[in-house]
Amino acid sequence: MKSLIQQAFDPEDFRREGHKLVDLLASYLENCRQKAPMPVLPPSDPDAMAAFWQNDLENRDFELQSFYSTLISQSNHIHHPRYMGHQVVPPAPLSALTELLEALLNNGMAIYEMGPAATAIERVVLQWLAKHIGMPQSADGVLTSGGSAGNLTALLAARQAMCGHNIWEEGNQHHAPLAIMVSDEAHYSVARAARIMGWGEQGVVKVPVNDRMQLDASRLEDTLADARARGLHVIALVGNACSTSTGSYDPLNEMADFAHKNNLWFHVDGAHGGAAALTQKYNHLTQGIEKADSVVIDFHKMMLAPALTTAVLFKNGAHSYETFAQKAAYLLASGTQKPWFDSAGRTLECTKKMLGVKVYAMIKLYGDQLFSDYVEAAYDLGQEFYHLLNQQTDFEPALKPDGNIVCFRFNPKGFTGDVSILNAQIRKKLLLDARFYVVQTQIQGQAYLRVTLMNPFTEMADLNDLLLLIRELGNGIIETVNT
Ligand SMILES: Cc1ncc(COP(=O)(O)O)c(C=O)c1O
Repeated sequence: MKSLIQQAFDPEDFRREGHKLVDLLASYLENCRQKAPMPVLPPSDPDAMAAFWQNDLENRDFELQSFYSTLISQSNHIHHPRYMGHQVVPPAPLSALTELLEALLNNGMAIYEMGPAATAIERVVLQWLAKHIGMPQSADGVLTSGGSAGNLTALLAARQAMCGHNIWEEGNQHHAPLAIMVSDEAHYSVARAARIMGWGEQGVVKVPVNDRMQLDASRLEDTLADARARGLHVIALVGNACSTSTGSYDPLNEMADFAHKNNLWFHVDGAHGGAAALTQKYNHLTQGIEKADSVVIDFHKMMLAPALTTAVLFKNGAHSYETFAQKAAYLLASGTQKPWFDSAGRTLECTKKMLGVKVYAMIKLYGDQLFSDYVEAAYDLGQEFYHLLNQQTDFEPALKPDGNIVCFRFNPKGFTGDVSILNAQIRKKLLLDARFYVVQTQIQGQAYLRVTLMNPFTEMADLNDLLLLIRELGNGIIETVNT
């Protein structure tokens, strides 16, 4: 009789169960690809879901493959082309397979000796990305676990480089309160980073947006002057590429010039849309990204990798050593640069997953073109969907999308009720129906439906069907109210 430890490490069990799991997942992928009529997400009551898994844990009968099947059925089906809610990519299946390898090798990566190959691969991947978004040779950075951690990592370096004293050692005391400038449309992780750094609400100075929800560059001057007059020491300007809610790209070029003229650090949050810089067709949207002092791009959004892998790039690579260190700590006493290869010195993580490996494998297997083909197709679909919406008399797009995030609402002629309430009700019914997954957002105080077209197999036929379903649900709600 094998001990539990022997069982847990049995290579034969691993081989057998692994083969079965890959078969299960391949069939699952086929079903999704064929758009099998299935709910694209499970029923959404959190307490019922918790009770389900509590019961499951207490049930002593356990069979690994049936657990895998149950987990799949209780999960969101990101690979189904009708799942189009949040910015979650259906990962390229082979990158998920690479992640299995990463998990098993489990080379920790705090220091080079813990993950030699993964450390080198991370560097190669970062240099590949820096080159593709037009950053100079001096660029360097780190991979970290998500865009939120990435924004914090970059803004900590900005703080150290720009605040004028050694804040890492001395803290915030006895100096003017620090702040960053950003539009209201920025992802919450940007404001959260300012709060984590102890700057409170006043640490985020909001620049107004225009009617396309882009930061209004004509308001930069007066917003900065006003913040300075209030005694704030503004150290950085943050651009969205693109914003989370509406997918709008800020005018990065103008912002970069303004930032540098006014001695501000320029950070670009390109977690979702920075990847447009890799395309021919949509790289006009990211023009100016190459001038940024720091850039964040999520590989797990528009670059087909499973969550989480985020690149934090610094135009002047030496700045990447300032995130967690005193000024110029990247220089050793001898005047030579600190070694690049002990990753924990520059990242929030101590132990870190082998983050670059799955990206490296995709680049090597498919080449650069995979990413530009993917982004271009997704952004094209966003534009086509916008045209479809414009052709309907009972739908209105919130604004012309820059990329693959499209916000719209059902608003039939003659409807005199509250359009926001109507669309919020439609969204609830869509969740119950579960043939599509669509989310909701607020734009200037109004509720809109929102899709993020991340799945490369979503087609116009799916979007047509979505509008038919929304129309049916919306008219049903109106009828019920009127009778
Ligand atoms: C623009 C933007 N920045 C940052 C983030 C946070 O990224 P993550 O979810 O990887 O932490 C998001 C997530 O949606 C985002 O859209």
